Amino acid sequence: MAYNLLKGKKGIIFGALDSKSIAWKVAEKAFEEGAVFTLSNTATALRFGELDELAKKCNATIIPADATSVDDLTRVFEESMKVLGGKVDFVLHSIGMSLNVRKKRVYNDLDYNYLNKTLDISAISFHKMLQVAFKLDAINEWGSVVGLSYVAAQRTLYGYNDMADAKALLESIARSFGYIYGRDRKIRVNTISQSPTNTTAGSGVKGFDGLLDFTERMSPLGNANAEECAEYCITLFSDLTRKVTMQNLFHDGGFSSMGMSWKAMQIYNKSINCDCNDKKDTQMD
Ligand SMILES: NC(=O)c1ccc[n+]([C@@H]2O[C@H](COP(=O)([O-])OP(=O)(O)OC[C@H]3O[C@@H](n4cnc5c(N)ncnc54)[C@H](O)[C@@H]3O)[C@@H](O)[C@H]2O)c1
Repeated sequence: MAYNLLKGKKGIIFGALDSKSIAWKVAEKAFEEGAVFTLSNTATALRFGELDELAKKCNATIIPADATSVDDLTRVFEESMKVLGGKVDFVLHSIGMSLNVRKKRVYNDLDYNYLNKTLDISAISFHKMLQVAFKLDAINEWGSVVGLSYVAAQRTLYGYNDMADAKALLESIARSFGYIYGRDRKIRVNTISQSPTNTTAGSGVKGFDGLLDFTERMSPLGNANAEECAEYCITLFSDLTRKVTMQNLFHDGGFSSMGMSWKAMQIYNKSINCDCNDKKDTQMD
C-alpha cells in the first residue's frame, strides 16, 4: 500500500545490483511513493547486474560511478540535478565490499591494500558523497541522506572481518557530517543498522546461514528483510522524520538489545556437551 510519502521528491539511489539488493527494494518503494530518482552503480555492476530492468520499471536514468571516485560522484550529482530538474531531496548510500572477505583473508591476517579498499568503498565513499553534494549544494533543505550499516560496528560478530571497521567509520561519518549538514543546510544524515539480509553482499559473509538463523532466534520480532528495510528508508526520506539526524537506527527486530533468547537457548542447550575448547571439534580461524 502506497501513502504518497515521497510525492514531489527527487533522489539518488546508489547500490542496486539485482532484485535482492536493499537499494533495489528502496527504488521500488520510492517509485511507489511518488519519488523521481536516478540510479548509480559501478560499470562492472551495470554489466553483470540487472539494473536496466529496474531503471525501466521506475522510469529512472542510470549514471555509472565508482563511489570511491570524487570525479564520478561529482558527475552523478551534476547529471542527476540536470535529469531531475533541480536539487535532490534524498540520497541512499547502499554500498559495501571487502576484498579481505572475498579472498578469505581472516582478521588477524589482513591484506592492508584490501583493507584500504574496504574502507574506501564501504565508508569513505559516504564522506565523498556528502562532501561532493555539499560543495555542489545539491541537496534541498530538509533533505535526507541514509547509509546502511550493521551491528558489527558496535559488537564483534564472528566472520564479519574488516567490514566491522568500515561500518564503525561509516556511522561516525554520519554523525560528523550530520552536524555540519544540520547546522548549515537543515539536512539530516543517518545510518540504518540492518539485520543480516540475504543479498549478494550479505551472503558473502562467512557462516552467513548460521548467522541468519542465530539472529532470527535472538530477535523478538525476527530478522528484518530487505523490503522492510526499504520501508524504513522511505520513512527517513519522508517529511515525517525531519528532526531525526546523526543517528544509527537499528532495524533488526530487536536483536541489538538482546543477550539471550528462549529460541537461541534451545539450540545452545542441545550442544552444551560439546567441548568447544577442543580444537578437534572446532575449526577456528
Ligand atoms: N545484506 C546484509 O546482511 C546487510 C546487513 C546490514 C547492512 N548491509 C549493508 O547494506 C548495503 C547494501 O548491501 P546489500 O546487502 O543490498 O548487497 P548488494 O550486494 O546488493 O549491494 C552492495 C552494492 O555495493 C555496490 N558497490 C560495490 N563497490 C562499489 C563501488 N566501488 N562503487 C559503487 N558501488 C559499489 C555493488 O555493486 C552493490 O550494488 C551495504 O552497505 C551492506 O554492507 C547489508
